[in-house]
This record gives sequence, structure tokens and C-alpha cells, in this order.
Amino acid sequence: MSLQQFVAALDDLADDAKRAFDAAADPDTLEEARIKFLGAKKGLLKSIQKQIGSVGKENMPTAGQRLNEVKSLIEQTFQATQDRLTGDAADGADPTFDPTLPGVAPEIGHVHPITQTIDHLMEIMGRMGFEAAEGPEVEDPHHNFVALNIPEDHPARDPLDNFYLSVGDGQVSRFVEGTRLLRSQTSTVQIRVMEQRQPPIRIISLGRVYRPDAPDATHFPMFHQMEGLMVDRNVTMANLKTVLRIFATNYLGDDVEIRFRPSFFPFTEPSVEVDFLWDGNWVEFGGAGMVDPNVFKAVGYDPEQVSGFAFGLGVERLCMRRHGITDIRDLYSGDLRFLRQF
Ligand code: PHE
Repeated sequence: MSLQQFVAALDDLADDAKRAFDAAADPDTLEEARIKFLGAKKGLLKSIQKQIGSVGKENMPTAGQRLNEVKSLIEQTFQATQDRLTGDAADGADPTFDPTLPGVAPEIGHVHPITQTIDHLMEIMGRMGFEAAEGPEVEDPHHNFVALNIPEDHPARDPLDNFYLSVGDGQVSRFVEGTRLLRSQTSTVQIRVMEQRQPPIRIISLGRVYRPDAPDATHFPMFHQMEGLMVDRNVTMANLKTVLRIFATNYLGDDVEIRFRPSFFPFTEPSVEVDFLWDGNWVEFGGAGMVDPNVFKAVGYDPEQVSGFAFGLGVERLCMRRHGITDIRDLYSGDLRFLRQF
């Protein structure tokens, strides 16, 4: 073997070894490759080394030097690959890394108190057979007003009390054809459910509603309501009061009492305000009543055949009472010092 052939064989071997190490995807494969190339007895480098005598005495020093260079090159490549596979390159490179120090705990988020309340209310009402239904937050006047027996000239439709959206040519008015608004009550979902299904119906709907109120401790332009609707033959006001009482004792406590005060809503007749006695005070939580026959007619039900009750309760108010929160704005400030407590 000439010196040239010897050197060429070494270079080829270095290339082959690098390729084999690069291709190794796990430590075992890498170890096999190491034995193949660098093995002390039968390694390929060793077998070239054994032929060093054939280059001739005068070429021996050059051949030996070359052999050592290639050997350490292959060893370095092996070491780099091993570091890559075991992760030493990343960890070992940082001398400040101390595995004995406690780690930085990741911030783990949790469910917002209002969402927790919604889940809780759904669970309580679910046990009484009320199924959750949903409707859109951007509504048309038919579902927010007309089908709910709220006539065109009713003050509840005033733009000062509603968020009308601009439509088509950018006009914002309750009189524009195709006008839309952010729903001001979840009673819209009563209509949407009755349009789709036939009685018996027993649903609740929990979601956001919007009214242009200036924010203060008890008002916020966006809040949540729990709407309830039960329609069947012979549903009575006693059923309504029983459902609300069971609900209130489950959510607020056994000692809670319930009171109905006469009121008016266009979509219920008779209508009541619902108060709960809580911590010695009567607190208003929402409205309720027996579904108005005009509402049944609007969805194609026969008011002679079915009757029903509906209620709408303020979710924030329930949540605030239960948790002793005194300012509704705290719920929506995004202040983690507040939210972490729940
Ligand atoms: N939608 C009424 C409100 O927002 C509450 C209500 C719901 C009253 C259902 C009666 C029946 O004030």
C-alpha cells in the first residue's frame, strides 16, 4: 500500500464514520457505529492501522501522524453526536445551571369566577331536568323584542337602552331594515328554542347580555343572565316558585327564602320580581312570570293547549352574593390579585 492509498483510506473512513454517526438517532445505534469504526480489536480504523507497515519505512512518520489526526477527528465527531443524543450539549453548556435548585413554577391559570358560577348553576338546574340551550349575542329585533310581545313604540327598544349595530350602509337605527343589536336579555333564547321544538320544554340559557349602563359597583354594560323556560300542559306559578326556591336554597343556602312581588314584563302574564332573603335582606335577583299567550302565538304554540313559566336571573348578582363580592367591576378588571382568590 502506498502512502497515498493509506491516506485516502483514512480520509474515506473519516467520511464514512461521520455519516454513520450523523445517521444515528439513538444512543444504541451510535454505540454500534462507534464499535464498527473505533473498536479496539476489530474496528475499521484498527484494521487500517495494521497496514501502516506497508507504506515503507521513510513514510511511516507521515502515515502515523495522519492516522492520529483522523483518529481524534472521528473521536470528536463521535463525542459531539453523543452529546446531541443525550442532551449534554444543551445542559452541559451552561455552567450556571444547578439541577439542585428548585425550579420556576409555571403560572397555572384557572376558570373565571363567572364561568365557575355558570357551571354551578347549570349543574343545579340540570338536576331538576333543565337542559342548557344557547343563542347568538348579536340578535335581530324579532327575537329580542317582537316575538317577546314588545311593541315598536316600547321604551325597552330605545337606542339609549340598547347597543344597535351599524348595518349595510353604516346606518345605526332601530328602524333600518335588517338592523341588529347586542341582545339585551336572554329571553331571546326562549323564542329560538320554541321556534325549533315542540313542548314539553325545560331549558335554561346562560349567557352574556348588553345594556349601555355606565359602570358602577352594581352595573356593567355587559353581564350574564340565566334564563329559564318550562312549557308543558298545566304548568303553574306554583311550579315556578318551587323551582326557584329549590334553586336558591341549593345555590345560596338552606336558610334562603323566596318572595314574589307583582311586576310587569311584556312577555309574561302575570309577572313578578324575584327576591331572595339572604343575610336578613330581601335582594332582587331577576324577573319571572307565566309565558304570555302572545309569545306562544308568535312561535306557533296554542295557548289553550300549553302553559309555561319563564324567569331571568342576574348571574353576577348571584355570584357576588355567594362570594361576598361588593363591586361588579372587580369581575371584569382582569386584576389577578382579585381573580386568584377563586
Ligand atoms: N328578560 C327579563 C329582564 O331581562 C327578565 C325576565 C325573564 C322576566 C323571563 C320574566 C321572564 O329583565
